[in-house]
Amino acid sequence: MTLAERTTARFGELIGAAPDIAVRAPGRVNLIGEHTDYNDGFVLPAAIGQHSIVAARRRLDNVVRMIAADFGDVVSEFDLSRPIAPAPDQPWSNYIRGMAATMQAHGVDLGGTDIVVAGDIPQGSGLSSSASLSVATGMALGGLFARGHFGATQIALMAQAAECDFVGMRCGNMDQLASAHGVLDHALLIDCRSLDIRPVALPPGAAILIVHSGISRGLVDGQYNERRAQCEAVARQLGAAALRDVSLDELDAARADLDPIAYRRARHVVTENVRVLDAAQAMEGGDLVALGELMAASHVSMRDDFEITLPAIDHLVAELQRAIGGRGGARMTGGGFGGAVVALVEAEAAQAVIDHVETGYRTPDGNTPAIMVERAHAGASFL
Ligand code: GLA
Repeated sequence: MTLAERTTARFGELIGAAPDIAVRAPGRVNLIGEHTDYNDGFVLPAAIGQHSIVAARRRLDNVVRMIAADFGDVVSEFDLSRPIAPAPDQPWSNYIRGMAATMQAHGVDLGGTDIVVAGDIPQGSGLSSSASLSVATGMALGGLFARGHFGATQIALMAQAAECDFVGMRCGNMDQLASAHGVLDHALLIDCRSLDIRPVALPPGAAILIVHSGISRGLVDGQYNERRAQCEAVARQLGAAALRDVSLDELDAARADLDPIAYRRARHVVTENVRVLDAAQAMEGGDLVALGELMAASHVSMRDDFEITLPAIDHLVAELQRAIGGRGGARMTGGGFGGAVVALVEAEAAQAVIDHVETGYRTPDGNTPAIMVERAHAGASFL
């Protein structure tokens, strides 16, 4: 049984009726372009094979009742006749609450709903389990109460707003757009300002490896929001709308006036935007060597300029790079401070790389890391 089948079957057992609607929305792995999305820049993520499932059915009252099938069927509920508030003791439910509140603010007249959610994206791994839950919720509620009026991009932007305003993580729009728009066997070159999305075919014969460091990202929203504030402050100081509009020459010309840490934060973003565009081009040319160099440079920039890696993650990336040689690359993926590392390798070399990493890296509790061999998957869909 697939996760979707298990979830809809569980819905029937718990609610006593079949769901009116069920949605799957994938997580994402970002190949390159970290902390560029909220600077109006470029990113190159791909949707992955793990996802969140949301099954939902209208109720006759005003209650939204949410059940987390993965957390022992724990229940959380709210009443639509009162303002929707976060539930600090049930953080998983806040992505659904936030999405409901955001859709209301967009004029959707929600009604009582039974919701069962489940997912197989490892949490705290930088693979966007939360964005996928928000996107799946938005599609399900949009299908039930807005006659599918919202397109994939609108759902993604509402999901982003829900996470920023309701959950308090001031994220960009990459995760939600990638989950909503994923294309099989393609990465997505996203212009996070214009919202233009260009699918870029993965090099033929390449595989994506996702290696879990075993270090959960934990409570790092504060660090994330601080990085974002630093970037926005530099843009303001330079009179730019966003760091997207600043070149490395312009940044260097202003260096003497900038706080040294702020300068390095901005240098990461400015150089990373260029790397994303170069990587998309290298990918189109099937050039795994160039991609490997760009991924390596991205990791160094995250480590030294943006300071969001950890020594254990740096070690894991170095082990992967050693095993890969020149044909492909590796870097930390996602917001940072733990989570997963992504590698792009020739499919026939994947097993040797896995063997090497299983010998050369141990998680903090002494285990071999969990490794997934992935291709790029399609975006969110109704089941
Ligand atoms: C998190 C955020 C994204 C993005 C990445 C870093 O995943 O949700 O918006 O900023 O971190 O690239």
